[in-house]
Amino acid sequence: MPEQQSSNSNTDALGYIRTCKNYLRSASAVHHRTSSTAFAELVDNAKDASAKTVWINRVTARKNQFCLSITDDGVGLDDRGLLNMFGLGYSEGKLFKGGIGEYGAGFKSGSMKLGRDVLVLTIQKRSHRMFAGLLSRTMHDMEGLQDLTAVTVEIVEGEDGELAVKQDSRKHRQSIDMIKKYSGVVQSEKGLVTLMKRLREAKRSTRILISRISSDLEWEKEDICMKMPRDKHYRYERSLRVYLSHIYGKIRVRDQQKNPTIVLRNSEIIPVIWEKTLYHKGETSFAMRIESLRGLGRVQCLVGFKDPLNQYPGKPEKLKRRPENEPQGVIWLVNGRTVELFTPTKTQAGQNGDEKAWTKYSAVQAKGKGARIICELNLNNPTGLKLQQNKDGFQKNDSYYKLLAKMDEQLRKHCSQAMHKS
Ligand SMILES: Nc1ncnc2c1ncn2[C@@H]1O[C@H](COP(=O)(O)OP(=O)(O)OP(=O)(O)O)[C@@H](O)[C@H]1O
Ligand SMILES: [Mg+2]
Repeated sequence: MPEQQSSNSNTDALGYIRTCKNYLRSASAVHHRTSSTAFAELVDNAKDASAKTVWINRVTARKNQFCLSITDDGVGLDDRGLLNMFGLGYSEGKLFKGGIGEYGAGFKSGSMKLGRDVLVLTIQKRSHRMFAGLLSRTMHDMEGLQDLTAVTVEIVEGEDGELAVKQDSRKHRQSIDMIKKYSGVVQSEKGLVTLMKRLREAKRSTRILISRISSDLEWEKEDICMKMPRDKHYRYERSLRVYLSHIYGKIRVRDQQKNPTIVLRNSEIIPVIWEKTLYHKGETSFAMRIESLRGLGRVQCLVGFKDPLNQYPGKPEKLKRRPENEPQGVIWLVNGRTVELFTPTKTQAGQNGDEKAWTKYSAVQAKGKGARIICELNLNNPTGLKLQQNKDGFQKNDSYYKLLAKMDEQLRKHCSQAMHKS
């Protein structure tokens, strides 16, 4: 039983609830259908920690064995922060202005989707203290541990300026043993200290090393290829570079950088500028009254037609649609981060009775096809929208459907204006 519970007489009567190790597997399976959203969780965390750059790379652990490395230059963590990061439900996302994390689950579900064991090295910017922590499914299995457990150690600088693991009795030896045995990347105390030294020299704050990585990931020269389930008969592949360039895209060229720069396998990811993917564009903004008592939420939108030349680079040839087959839809951005890449709206060819008129228009715009609305939301505004836990969309509540209906209305308006102009 945790100390704080047993020492408080008011809670003596309460039952301590176990968190079984299986939670790690279930969280990854429940929250992430694919590896792409798992990567995004880790980049989101770096963004919430005010990182300017995130590096995604691979590290050779042993011969022909690789692990994933996600490093950032954010604020870093102290020992309490690190344990909170491993814990369930604790979140500091909302404390950061414009933060996207709120559920206290993303790190666990995301890292465990990508691999089985995670070693975290972190240097807290404020105090310069250094910590390493291990969350490992292999450790639980091999050591017969049933309850969720993590290992942490502090790394300190000696008088000679050399780094070493802080010696605090028996715990220190045991922790180092666990890290050596199960991190999949560090084979000795010296190896751990060397990794920390490199992190410090590079002036980076938090490094997440994931080993025993999922077989759905394949290394490419400047990319990681993700094998995605589509349905039971067919799997397709997605480029992490293309995915992240969309998820951390910008709405306009002049937008100040809200998202960190992402360097994937030593090459910077160029964010998509949503404005450039549209032609015949216009801006629209409308307020939404939602049942909540918090008043009006203003929604800013960019409307237009999908640029037929912008055919999603990296998408397999057979999945590319011809412009005239493009559906209409909404692309959602929350606090500068794209959330739902595309939601088809119900207005489609013929439904608005304008079919004849549309056929006069160009092939792409005929029947309103390919019409897009890019919607900027700020979660501090009272729109009633709530993110799904994996940030891959919104909870399908009343507000969501109301907003979608408004979008549909705006799209119709824009389509008919565009038609009259031509
Ligand atoms: N790279 C990082 N740098 C600094 N702190 C981090 C980092 N990653 C995670 N944390 C800390 O760990 C906490 C838990 O992270 P986790 O992703 O599990 O939840 P969250 O981001 O708060 O919420 P959500 O489940 O919505 O993502 C964060 O609130 C943050 O305090
Ligand atoms: Mg998170």
